[in-house]
Amino acid sequence: MTKNLVLAIETSCDETAAAVVGEGKHVLSSVVSSQVDIHARYGGVVPEVASRAHVDLIAPVIAQALIEAGIDQSDLDLVAATRGPGLIGSLLVGVSAAKSLALVWKKPFIGVNHLEAHLYSCFLEEPDLELPLVVLLVSGGHTMLVAMDDHLSYRILGQTLDDAAGEAYDKVARYLGLSYPGGPAIDQLAASGESKIDFPRPMLNEGYNFSFSGLKTSVINYVRKHPETPIEDIATSFQEAVVDVLITKAKKAVIETNAKGLCIGGGVAANSLLREEVLDTCLKEGWQSFVPSRLYCTDNAAMVAAAAWRRYNQDGPSSLFTGADPNLQLLE
Ligand code: KG4
Ligand code: ZN
Repeated sequence: MTKNLVLAIETSCDETAAAVVGEGKHVLSSVVSSQVDIHARYGGVVPEVASRAHVDLIAPVIAQALIEAGIDQSDLDLVAATRGPGLIGSLLVGVSAAKSLALVWKKPFIGVNHLEAHLYSCFLEEPDLELPLVVLLVSGGHTMLVAMDDHLSYRILGQTLDDAAGEAYDKVARYLGLSYPGGPAIDQLAASGESKIDFPRPMLNEGYNFSFSGLKTSVINYVRKHPETPIEDIATSFQEAVVDVLITKAKKAVIETNAKGLCIGGGVAANSLLREEVLDTCLKEGWQSFVPSRLYCTDNAAMVAAAAWRRYNQDGPSSLFTGADPNLQLLE
């Protein structure tokens, strides 16, 4: 029987997810109910629609996670939920559900930082990764280079000054008339295109911060001027520019911080080219690397359980007065 079981809940954006994980690494179940189909017709997440869908989905998703794990509530040691950052209405559903269950079942509760959860998706599958590490966290809402000196101890080396990498993918995809979310759509198209357009690499040699808004605008301007260009070539060239910037800065960060390796997390870590480049770079340099399975890159509750278990062992439970915080920072 797996011990130290955490039931974790994730509702920060448009995925309603619940997972049961033992000791932050043994995944007994990980259920993700995506609202993509609901939001696709609007071309992006509609916050009010998302929170209402979470209300409908949260109970069945939690029940399914317990059933798939083959346990009942009496086997649980901790109930966790993402408490920020994210959409306030969405976060409130998960936090309220987790606190209510913890209270009724007489279990401790812990509120989890969504960004810390993305960082911990690497340790979920590879718990013995050696520190210090550099983690490139790339999602729809964030783009950050994080120096992880020890467990739960971070330094933010740089972050985006405007659009997150995933946001740039989504906006370019929307302009190109592709389906939402744009990241997977561009990734798929890029596989059959050629890298013919030399899009700018913003802030390539300027420290660790990122800026993707100018790149997005230059793709849009290029398509306006050259409407005959195959969409696949636009996708390939845009993707190469994004990944080039991400890898160049991540590589520099590993060297300058004397880290033992490089890991990635967040939805954009599901990107084919980024995954390939991280593994190739680390192999060439003799660095440790880890690329989480795609299902643990995009929002899921198993990564929340991994972070929750670490935090709980270091800091103990959160108070039941803990609320959702849409603007929660990594270093709080
Ligand atoms: O981590 P995530 O699920 O949610 C946030 O916390 O933001 O990330 C979602 C983002 C979206 O912008 C989506 O387009 C992007 O991740 N994404 C990808 C890929 N799969 C998801 N971007 C590029 N390539 C992909 N294969
Ligand atoms: Zn996320």
